[in-house]
Amino acid sequence: MNPFSDALLLSLAREHGTPLWVYDAATIRTRIAELRAFDTIRFAQKANSNIHLLRLMREQGVVVDAVSRGEILRALAAGYTADLDAQGASGIVFTADLFDHATLATVVEHRVPVNAGSIDMLHQLGAVSPGHAVWLRINPGFGHGHSNKTNTGGEHSKHGIWHAELDDALAAVKQHGLTLVGLHMHIGSGVDYAHLQEVCQAMVQLVKRAGTDLQAISAGGGLSIPYREGEPRIDTAHYFSLWDHARRSIAAHLGHAVHLELEPGRFLVAEAGVLVTEVRATKPMGSNRFTLVDAGFSDLMRPSMYGAFHGMGLIPADDTPRATVETVVAGPLCESGDVFTQAEGGVVLTRALPQAKVGDLLVLHDAGAYGASMSSNYNSRPLAAEVLVDGDSHRLIRRRQTVDELLALEQV
Ligand code: LLP
Repeated sequence: MNPFSDALLLSLAREHGTPLWVYDAATIRTRIAELRAFDTIRFAQKANSNIHLLRLMREQGVVVDAVSRGEILRALAAGYTADLDAQGASGIVFTADLFDHATLATVVEHRVPVNAGSIDMLHQLGAVSPGHAVWLRINPGFGHGHSNKTNTGGEHSKHGIWHAELDDALAAVKQHGLTLVGLHMHIGSGVDYAHLQEVCQAMVQLVKRAGTDLQAISAGGGLSIPYREGEPRIDTAHYFSLWDHARRSIAAHLGHAVHLELEPGRFLVAEAGVLVTEVRATKPMGSNRFTLVDAGFSDLMRPSMYGAFHGMGLIPADDTPRATVETVVAGPLCESGDVFTQAEGGVVLTRALPQAKVGDLLVLHDAGAYGASMSSNYNSRPLAAEVLVDGDSHRLIRRRQTVDELLALEQV
């Protein structure tokens, strides 16, 4: 999906240069509204942690998840605190499988509840912060994901506390006088929800087995979006009803109400964002035609990393008629894997697009999640700028990085 008109993207590209990330506030608000049935929507900010987007989330009553010290500091900069909101949910929760020393200190300083993915985390936290609020992230022994790299359950995944270790985790909670808030499960990203019922049942069984009281459960994230035209959109009402059913049977078992959290990243921001690039070269390569643009996997890594599909559109720089042609779309990096049209495993594909010329804009769709947040400085390329469009207005929410800023780190 591309929420923007060609005219707007052309004028933003002229004003800010390319490559350029452009986000639509209205799309984000719409996606939030679709998940309101959940007691708490906790945005997995790893998907897009620009503090202006975090502020937008906060204005909408969405709380956040943080997975690093940097993400905790971003949440604080956006005005979040670890205090509980009217629903009893903390503004920030730290989710990880380990603590580095600096992050542990920050979690303790700001009293950020911890969603622990290992028993070692419970011991390390308990030793310095007795009484600290904790969730237990459980690996139920199975998982799903749009690629093996985004499947976070099962015995090949490093995430969460293995389900059979739950008793040991609860013993560590007790030993240190930690305060158990709830159980959490996130089994993968972009998942096929045929298995959702299984996940919900696993949560109910875990709570029953735990034999301890708790206030909340978290369904994790993983809600997919239709990256390809015609792909079905997730049925959020059905999704909620399955989790609500699980929550009710847990509440009946415990004898009191249980709070239900959801932790989406992609669903809230993916469709709101595009990456605007400029075509800088076109060339034949045997039977293939290549269209080379000024963004690479250092900007948008998903196609190279997962063979992920992103819709594309061409905004011609002139009005000469353009035939539709099959083309490989690739970037400027010195790597043959720097191709936006590829399948998992690095198989180069082509895409049918209007024939591109140097100076045209090529727009990569559905790039608001895991786009800018996964960018790197590979090949000493500065991070691209970000713009937020809200109705008729738009503003720069991150300026383009400069090479001087990169070099400054090495002036030691
Ligand atoms: N909660 C936890 C504990 C997670 O690890 C994740 C994602 C989420 C929530 C949010 O998942 P989402 O709703 O966005 O699917 N870079 C990959 C996705 C990696 C996701 C990592 N964890 C991609 O571009 O598809």
